[in-house]
Amino acid sequence: MYPLRRNRRLRTNETIRSLVRETIITPNDFLVPLFIVEGKGVKEEIASMPNYFRYSLDLLENEVKELWNMGLKSVLLFVKVPDNLKDNKGTEALNPNGLMQRAIKTVKNICPEMLVMTDVALDPYSSYGHDGIVENGLILNDETVDVIAEMSVSHALAGANFVAPSDMMDGRILSIREALEDEGYLDTGIMSYSAKYASAFYGPFRDALDSAPVDMANVPKDKKTYQMDFANRFEALRETEMDIDEGADIVMVKPGLCYLDIVREIKNEVDVPVAVYQVSGEYAMLKAAAEKGWLDHDAVMMEQLIAIKRAGADIIASYFAKDVVKLIS
Ligand code: PBG
Repeated sequence: MYPLRRNRRLRTNETIRSLVRETIITPNDFLVPLFIVEGKGVKEEIASMPNYFRYSLDLLENEVKELWNMGLKSVLLFVKVPDNLKDNKGTEALNPNGLMQRAIKTVKNICPEMLVMTDVALDPYSSYGHDGIVENGLILNDETVDVIAEMSVSHALAGANFVAPSDMMDGRILSIREALEDEGYLDTGIMSYSAKYASAFYGPFRDALDSAPVDMANVPKDKKTYQMDFANRFEALRETEMDIDEGADIVMVKPGLCYLDIVREIKNEVDVPVAVYQVSGEYAMLKAAAEKGWLDHDAVMMEQLIAIKRAGADIIASYFAKDVVKLIS
């Protein structure tokens, strides 16, 4: 006799499959990274990120309106800082009229309901391309945290809803939380890049912002003394739990695809929303393979995003946000 249960019944056609589908993607899942540059009328494609652009503030307005109309209601801002404004301490990051501060106001002005998150780290502002202050070949922790806390307050003052520290210094979440409370920004959230790995998948992003570590004596060549070793699992849990204790509202795992075991583990352990960053190298890989005709772009994009959500992501930061919303709407 055949078994009483035939699992294929639930796969007979698309109607039944969609009825029993466990994971779906909607525009509400996404956080859209945006790259911003000085200038007017600038919309430049990032060489290693096909069909992804840097915008000047005037064109950022159109992009933000378009996103909102597509149902994409959260953005994560990054700025490309001119070389002459970079120094070791990231001084420009605190400029109340700096590019990031103006970008926050631009988005809020054109679309007040758009949720604005800002990247908080020194690397775009650092003459050495590091997320922290460099001294004698080392990255200083506590001195960097002081700047990062001040930077967070500056973003809150400009109107950011959430700050997103991506630097991986120790103790930064507590310092940011205390600084925000002291200045009266009780409702400014913190999305912590809590389990951020030292990954080679960040290459195209560093092209986008011209923020790679510089090749100089006494400057570390990589970020391995602050970002996590990709061989480690328990450490991700420890980092994440500490960030929650220090006051993070949302935690993050980064990159995405190679780290879905970590995502599931963290999702099972914590009771705050878990974000996943599908990073620039993940985007570049699929674009390149699709350009060559080796992979079906839309099908693989969907499979990857569903996998990220199935693993436990409540929020996905992704360069595919617009592509996928066009596909599903
Ligand atoms: C910098 C930062 C990086 C990314 C987000 N914030 C790069 C890095 O840590 O070197 C990577 C994002 C991506 O690759 O898409 N603090």
